[in-house]
Amino acid sequence: MKEFLNSIEIGSQGQFTLPAYYYIAEEIFQRELRQLFESSWICVGHVSDFPQRGSFITVDVGKESLLIVRDHQDKYHAHFNVCRHRGTKLTDSPCGLAGKSFQCPYHAWTYSLNGELIGVPDEKQIPNFSREAYSLHGAAVVSFEGLIWVHCGLKPTPFELHFAAIVKRFSNWTISDLELTGTKQYEVQANWKLILQNYSECYHCAPVHPRLVELSSPHSGGNDLIDGPVMGGYMDLKAGTGSMTFTGLRCGPTLPSLTTEQSERVYYYVVFPQMLLSLHPDYVMIHWLKPRSPSHTSITCKWYFPLSSKNQKCDPQDAIQFWDQTNREDWRVSELTQAGVGSSRYTPGPYSHREAMSAALDRYYLQQIEH
Ligand code: FES
Ligand SMILES: [Fe+2]
Repeated sequence: MKEFLNSIEIGSQGQFTLPAYYYIAEEIFQRELRQLFESSWICVGHVSDFPQRGSFITVDVGKESLLIVRDHQDKYHAHFNVCRHRGTKLTDSPCGLAGKSFQCPYHAWTYSLNGELIGVPDEKQIPNFSREAYSLHGAAVVSFEGLIWVHCGLKPTPFELHFAAIVKRFSNWTISDLELTGTKQYEVQANWKLILQNYSECYHCAPVHPRLVELSSPHSGGNDLIDGPVMGGYMDLKAGTGSMTFTGLRCGPTLPSLTTEQSERVYYYVVFPQMLLSLHPDYVMIHWLKPRSPSHTSITCKWYFPLSSKNQKCDPQDAIQFWDQTNREDWRVSELTQAGVGSSRYTPGPYSHREAMSAALDRYYLQQIEH
């Protein structure tokens, strides 16, 4: 079997888009938060979000808030952001420097970075109390390819098993060595699945993205991951195009470990349920999705470039502005779709073969939500 299949070869299997219920029902949304977001491996950030020992971030995963910290031995810990005394959130700062401990703002119970309860005012006044029984609740955490992943569930599938298909696949982009160069935040009035479906096909590229199709043919490329938690493949850059930028020129040095073939393509992967990983010859772009309601998704988009791009005449804005415009073009059609699927006249429509990956994504989603 070929390593990469084009969407025609994969086929949409006569599949139709999802019924409106999946895009508008509060009940299904609540089920998604619990069953998908709180029960999956979720990427929460990049190592650059933890610049020092003691650096922490807080993130919402489903309905949970997690506190993730790099300790003084460079080990990562993920804790539920819930004091073991009366349940108070330990911090609502998105990020910060913890020093050696976290202290609850209410009655000052204090926890070490690894979650042990180490300080309780007037401890002797609490009957039958033992600190050991009141460590913070922990979540599984893994550092992989320079990205930090967590799992809120009680018995997570081992990370290497869940992501067996991608182990070593992205190593050549050396994501752990790249530096955060730009961030854009978007509030999109569309269901999170519409964003993933939109990212998974280029049937829409000609009408929606005039500049993109000048750089990369929507008919090019192939998909190598067509089932499972990571899905996608690559598109070819047109001859004479260096990367996805307004000018079409590379805006950083080519990442040194890429093969010639990799440096002539852009790879696009959905990491289910909330991450879009776009691997370019000269930079990496990551979208993180946060579902807020059935019809509202917050999206953070970040661009990572090699440090050496600073020493050269590079203009990361060439990439950032190109994708910012392209993102907005995608959000617009996703919002229009959200508005349309709520109509009493909406019925599921047929996917074309050129939307085979969106159809595959829906199949995977239905397996996960209906089991
Ligand atoms: S609620 Fe945290 S110390 Fe009381
Ligand atoms: Fe698009």
